[in-house]
Amino acid sequence: MNKLLISLLVTIGLTGVAHAAGDAAAGKGKTAVCGACHGADGNSAVANFPKLAGQNEAYLIKQLNEIKSGNRAVVEMTGLLNGLNDQDIADIAAYFAKQKGTVGHAAKDLVEQGQKIYRSGIAAKGVAACTACHSPTGAGNEQAGFPAIGGQHAAYTEKQLHSFRTGERANDPQGMMRDTAGKLSDTEIKAVASYIQGLSK
Ligand code: HEC
Ligand code: HEC
Repeated sequence: MNKLLISLLVTIGLTGVAHAAGDAAAGKGKTAVCGACHGADGNSAVANFPKLAGQNEAYLIKQLNEIKSGNRAVVEMTGLLNGLNDQDIADIAAYFAKQKGTVGHAAKDLVEQGQKIYRSGIAAKGVAACTACHSPTGAGNEQAGFPAIGGQHAAYTEKQLHSFRTGERANDPQGMMRDTAGKLSDTEIKAVASYIQGLSK
């Protein structure tokens, strides 16, 4: 790992993530409308709708606030979060964080290339290993603000990597993901997204 990456990790780790304690039981009752797209337990059946089950609370809270404010554009969710206050958001995050995420499969012909990118990055292009931030199992690191990505639908992951690459999604601290995805080709994105779909949290 290079020095810049280490200092980034330390800075983020120390800044920490403090949030109001969410109540998962109360959250369940506030997610009826979400289930239509994300699945009642957060395991969505449609590959373009992200799985939320097992995602860490701090990341869910950050995304919900950013989707609500429009800082991250999700047209499908327009207006849906307007009536939610901080406690509602914390409760919903606690509920989805508690659910068990399902895991898919990687495509056989993409596993080798995808695994290589995930575990080692691409040194020649200065692409950092995904493992460094998202952990070897894809569980992420809540304290540091790194989401769980293991088991996520490949189509959703691919779309996010393309959006970070073009800068259409720009809510990543210090441009960490824009920097990483910006160096990946379409083929590399497809391979690593497929690998992640089969990666177990
Ligand atoms: C009509 C479908 C739809 C509904 C209803 C919906 N969402 Fe979403 N949601 C989406 C889509 C599509 C995305 C991903 C958009 C993208 O590609 O960036 C998303 C993204 C998210 C994300 C970001 C996930 C991540 O991994 O970064 C969270 C969190 C989320 N939704 C929570 C909710 C909650 C909570 C509700 C209910 C209050 C809800 N959504 C209702 C379609 C929906
Ligand atoms: C330096 C740390 C770092 C590295 C290295 C890194 N990521 Fe990330 N990644 C992040 C952060 C931070 C976020 C969350 C951004 C936010 O807050 O919205 C993220 C978000 C993501 C997301 C969006 C998750 C979601 O649910 O919407 C995907 C997909 C992703 N990363 C894939 C990868 C892949 C694939 C690699 C390796 C090629 C990689 N990341 C390398 C830090 C990193």
